[in-house]
Amino acid sequence: MMEIRRFVVGPLNTNMYLVISGKEAVVIDPGEMSGEMVEFVNKNEIKVKYVLATHGHFDHINGSGKVCGSLGSSMYINENDAGMAMQNPESMKSFIGIEGERIVIGGTFSDGQEFKFGDETMRVMQTPGHTAGSTCFFAGDCIFSGDTIFRGTIGRTDIGGSGSDMARTLEKFRSMAGKYRIYPGHGADTTLEHEQKTNPFLLDPDSAL
Ligand SMILES: [Fe+2]
Repeated sequence: MMEIRRFVVGPLNTNMYLVISGKEAVVIDPGEMSGEMVEFVNKNEIKVKYVLATHGHFDHINGSGKVCGSLGSSMYINENDAGMAMQNPESMKSFIGIEGERIVIGGTFSDGQEFKFGDETMRVMQTPGHTAGSTCFFAGDCIFSGDTIFRGTIGRTDIGGSGSDMARTLEKFRSMAGKYRIYPGHGADTTLEHEQKTNPFLLDPDSAL
């Protein structure tokens, strides 16, 4: 049994997720520190085994130092976005005029890697397009899609990404079988089936080019 709690953080309203199985959990996208999240974890005596980033944009990682420090955890990111994460102080400044935190990366991951917590497994699927190292995480019937797929749209490809990579990634989701709930990096959750039927970019992946 997996429990998902969403905390909306930071100036771009990023979805940070706490995914719990038993007394262990994973945090996805520590965009900013959330005292509410840390309090919940401590109150329920949950061990956060991993903090995972879907990609290296500042609004998904800027709080990683404080979140990891509070939880005694480390952040993992796709090897292809590690360089972007290291540029966070300058990158955040160029986006919103505030210098970002210096990021400490605990480790990198690549396609197919698995992170076990409680009775569940968070599996890495590399989904380049929004950025070179953009990742979707699969656990049970849930997909944490970062800025790759949103309800009704997709993430932009002009800030460290690639339209042709995005088209290839979307093609995989277009033809993917199975019933999944999608938890994106911003906005409301959705389902794979709903997006396959209505999202213009999944109906025609080449429109991302
Ligand atoms: Fe992003």
